[in-house]
Formats: sequence, structure tokens, C-alpha cells
Amino acid sequence: MSNKTLRNQFTVVKVGGSLDGMPRSLLEDIRRLRMSEVPVIVVHGGGNAITAEMNKRGLDVEKVGGLRVTSRESIPVIREVMCNIGERITRRIGEEGMPAVHINGHRRVLKVEPIEGLGLVGRVTEVSLPRILSPAGEGKVVVVTPLGWRETSHYNVNADDAAAAIAKEIQNRVHNEKRVPQSVPLFYLTDSDGIRGVDGTKINTATMEDIRRLIAQGIITGGMIPKAEAAIEAAGRGATVRILDGNAPMSLLHAVFRGEGGTAIRRED
Ligand SMILES: Nc1ncnc2c1ncn2[C@@H]1O[C@H](COP(=O)(O)OP(=O)(O)OP(=O)(O)O)[C@@H](O)[C@H]1O
Ligand SMILES: [Mg+2]
Repeated sequence: MSNKTLRNQFTVVKVGGSLDGMPRSLLEDIRRLRMSEVPVIVVHGGGNAITAEMNKRGLDVEKVGGLRVTSRESIPVIREVMCNIGERITRRIGEEGMPAVHINGHRRVLKVEPIEGLGLVGRVTEVSLPRILSPAGEGKVVVVTPLGWRETSHYNVNADDAAAAIAKEIQNRVHNEKRVPQSVPLFYLTDSDGIRGVDGTKINTATMEDIRRLIAQGIITGGMIPKAEAAIEAAGRGATVRILDGNAPMSLLHAVFRGEGGTAIRRED
């Protein structure tokens, strides 16, 4: 895609908690995107940091299908850990000379409905899009902390799901409604170079069928389950999705400008 087309193209970048902050090369890639006037929305994870803090406080850690079962007692811990990560990432981007703003999802930005059997874990059902797109449109890198709200409660939200929900909402409201024939780019930066298949090598393109099969075969496990599922859902709604190595130099840049790298997620072949 030409730089001209990418200008004003809201781009959603999920930065895995597995990366333990913002790798230097990723900050560099975001700077290059901003130089090309690509509006960037960062959604961060924090799985390892939450688990460490919960262990420290003697709270049980239980995951089902890669999602964290969340008790009422663990919500304040998750909220504190996640908001701190969001603040740190925002500050880090700011230190690089890029204007950045931090948005907490539970402040009425990411509305959820509870996922049955997981306690206070929510699936995002509504995104207050202007809260995200206004600052992004003004040239600020927007950093979203994936926490949800419903009535008077705060919810734990899987960051992969939050990133997909934001991308889907942009696709629906901005592109489909206004008939802009463009696909929202959604990138998952993680500690693996993509989805690995049966023989352990990286898969270049994965379809919904591939992902279903790999989950059933136990090849896609743990945190890759919600990621692959969120990715395929967003692809199904028209987003252009890739799972990328967040530690590899220029992986985000190459994905944006060349459409290369990691595992591309396609609805079908
Ligand atoms: N088939 C697979 N291919 C690649 N990675 C896989 C696969 N199955 C399971 N994984 C695991 O998924 C992990 C990535 O998901 P994980 O949730 O741990 O990271 P993240 O989403 O980047 O971080 P966070 O959840 O904190 O945001 C990899 O480190 C790998 O161990
Ligand atoms: Mg994860």
C-alpha cells in the first residue's frame, strides 16, 4: 500500500505483555509510522505481570482456554497492574518525542458482557470510538488499557479481544458505514514469530479452518488460543490481520508497508 493511502488509516497494534514493555525496535517502528502520518492505536497486554502480582498477593491463578478466571478480589490487582503498564508505555512513547495519550477501557470506553464461567471477565460489546479516534486523529499515539465496564463493575478483558473489538468497530463505523473501501490493519505483536503448526514451523497464512483445526489438535494452546480466535474474528469482519514477532526489528514496519511477515490471518483461502 502506498504511503498516501496509509495516511489517516487507523492502525491497531496489540503489544503483548509477553514482550515485557515496549521493545526499542517497536518504538522505532511506531515512530516511522507516525512520520508517515499513520494514526496508531496501541492496545497492551500484561499477562505475565498480572500473574506475578497475583502470586505475590497469594491470589489463585487459573486459566481456561487461555483466559484468566477473574474473582472479585483480583480485579483491583489486575486494574492496578494494567493501568501502570499503560501509563509506562504511554510515557515511554512520549519520551521518544511522540505525543501520546493513555485511555483506560474501564472508564466507559470498552463496554462488556460477562463471559459465562470466568467470573469478572468480559467480552467487549461496545467501543466508545470517538474517545479513541479523536486523539488518534489529532496525531497522538493512543494507548488503550484493556479493562471493561458494565453497570457499576469493572471487568478483566483479554487484550487480544479488546484490540479486535476496536479494529472491528473502526471497520464498521468508519469504513463500511462511510463506504471507505479500506481494511483496518490489526497487528498482534507477541513473543513468537507467528502461529506455529504441527511440525513447529511458522505458518505464513492461517485461515479460520486452520485455526480451528490447530486448536482442536492441541497445537495452538494457551495465550495463542484467544489471540488466534480474536484475529480470525476481526479478519472475518474485514480487518487485515497479522501475528508478528514483537522483538524482531522492523516487523511492524514491514507488515504495514509491505504486507509481509509473521502469520497472516485470512477468513478463507
Ligand atoms: N501454535 C502456537 N504458535 C505460536 N505460539 C503458541 C502456539 N501455541 C501456543 N503458543 C504460545 O502463545 C504465546 C503467546 O501468547 P501469550 O498470551 O503468552 O502472549 P501475548 O498475548 O503476547 O502476551 P499478553 O497475553 O500478556 O498480552 C507464545 O509465547 C507461545 O508460547
Ligand atoms: Mg496473550
